[in-house]
This record gives sequence, structure tokens and C-alpha cells, in this order.
Amino acid sequence: MKITGKTSVYGIFGYPVKHSLSPLMQNAAFEEVGVDAVYVPFEVEPENLKEAVNGVRALGVKGLNVTVPHKERIIEHLDYLSEEAELLGAVNTVKNENGELTGYNTDAEGFLRSLVEEGVELEGKKALMFGAGGAGRAVGYALLKGGVSFLYVVNRNFQRAREVGELLGKRGNVLVFPLKESTVETLLKEVDMIVNTTSVGMKPDDPHLFDYSKIPEGVTVVDIIYNPPETPLLKAAKEKGCKAVNGLGMLVYQGAVAFEIWTGKKAPVETMREVLERELYGGTP
Ligand code: ATR
Repeated sequence: MKITGKTSVYGIFGYPVKHSLSPLMQNAAFEEVGVDAVYVPFEVEPENLKEAVNGVRALGVKGLNVTVPHKERIIEHLDYLSEEAELLGAVNTVKNENGELTGYNTDAEGFLRSLVEEGVELEGKKALMFGAGGAGRAVGYALLKGGVSFLYVVNRNFQRAREVGELLGKRGNVLVFPLKESTVETLLKEVDMIVNTTSVGMKPDDPHLFDYSKIPEGVTVVDIIYNPPETPLLKAAKEKGCKAVNGLGMLVYQGAVAFEIWTGKKAPVETMREVLERELYGGTP
């Protein structure tokens, strides 16, 4: 990497930010496409967010990704929002055009593109989604945008499920339920796909969301967790012969969409995926 006086600077705001895979992925993308730019981590404490955003304007940082805990709070410091960022109330990508900052949310588009790549059809399908956090909002929005006929949202905290239902209900048929074994079992008989947006499955001793032996044959199971690459949910789905998709594609494509917003160039998704696989799983399969 050759840094000169003309090199553009991009970065990610997070707190903490040390675990972020975006610098690796975006620098590999810049290099592959021949964009003269670098991408660096910025650990921004919540109380310094406003100053940090003004620093982006002052320093001419060309673009940002935004992660926990700043995705919602950054909005008040930006000049414009994309329709999706506005609806979801969260920003994960910022573009700086001559000091004017526009916030985007590429999670939903990233999720959709990853499903297209996997050949998963959404049109007219019924989806059962677990989780009602920030990720659940984006994924639920994406599922409706992709044409699902019914979205069933199940969450441990029912109030949060209701909030997601209220937000997304304007966009399609959304029904919300508390996380209860008997409810899930009834819903499983109805649906074409199961999507996990909760953090359950990241740690080896996590509980199961429901009895995974009840996963019906023939459904598609998507888990947005990418580490481990195969959660107990996905493992059970594969054992049933179901199509099983993990979250690596969503991670790659949310980054790819951000890259395209910043540079106007097509993102080198294969390169981006390869560097992530090497880092996360120790080699390309
Ligand atoms: P994110 O922005 O990544 O979605 P989040 O807002 O913290 O993160 O949401 C985490 C999701 O995982 C929530 O849906 C949470 O359920 P609650 O709203 O009931 O907290 C879900 N989750 C985390 N641990 C869980 C567990 N042990 N069982 C069921 N759901 C769990």
C-alpha cells in the first residue's frame, strides 16, 4: 500500500472497534480495484461522537462505517439520510461530499444481495424471524422488500417484537409473537424459511431458540451469525437436508454496498469474502 498526499481516508467509528473486520475487508477492496484510499479504525467514545463527526468534516475523511454503539446516535450529527436509514433509525455507512454528510444503512441491501447470491427466493414466501434488535429491523425490512408474503417476528422480549411490528407493519404483513416453544412449533408448520437475527448461537453454551429437531424438511434456514460459521441452528438444518445460509454473505455485501456508495465502483466481492474467510476460519474452503 502506497500512501501519498492524494490518498483518501475512510474509517469506522465504533466503541470498541478492535474486533472490526471492516478495515481488512475494505483495504483489500481498495487495493483490488486500484482505489487510492486507506481505511482505518477510529475508537470513538460515545461522549465524543459529535466532535468525531465534526472531525470527519474538518479532516475531509471521505466515508465511514458506523458500528455499535453509534449507529442510532450518529443520526443527529448528519446532514442527510437515505430512506432506509431514516426508516430503520440506524446508520452504518456515511458518505462525505464536500463536508455534507449523508447516512445510509447497507445492512438490509447487504442481506438481500447475499440471499440472491445463494439463490434464495423470497417472493411470496412466509418467513419466521427470531430477534427484534437492530439487526432484526434491517433483516425484517429486507425480507418484506424482497417480497415475503408474511413475516412472523418472534422475540424473547415481546415489547421489542411489537415495536418492530409497528415499524415494519406499514410495509407488509407482519405478525409478532413472544418466544414460546408451542408458538414456535405452530409457526414452523406454516413457514418456508427461518431466519435468526439474535445473538443466540455465537457462544458454545448458548441455549437453543427452540427444539431444532422440529425444523421442517424443505425450509431454508438463514442465520446472520458468521462466527462460528455453522451455528447449532444451521447444523440442525443441514442434518434435515435444508438449505442453510450463514451471515458471512451479509457481512461481505453490507461492506460491498458501502464501497459502491463511496467509490461508485463495483465492489470486488470475491476478494472481500476471501480475506474474511482467511481471517475468521483460517483459510478459504
Ligand atoms: P442487534 O443490534 O445485533 O440486533 P441487540 O439489539 O442487542 O443486537 O439484539 C439482540 C437480539 O438477540 C434481541 O432480539 C435479543 O432478544 P431480547 O430483545 O429479548 O433481548 C436476542 N437475544 C439475545 N440473547 C437471547 C437469548 N438468550 N434468548 C433469546 N433471544 C436472545
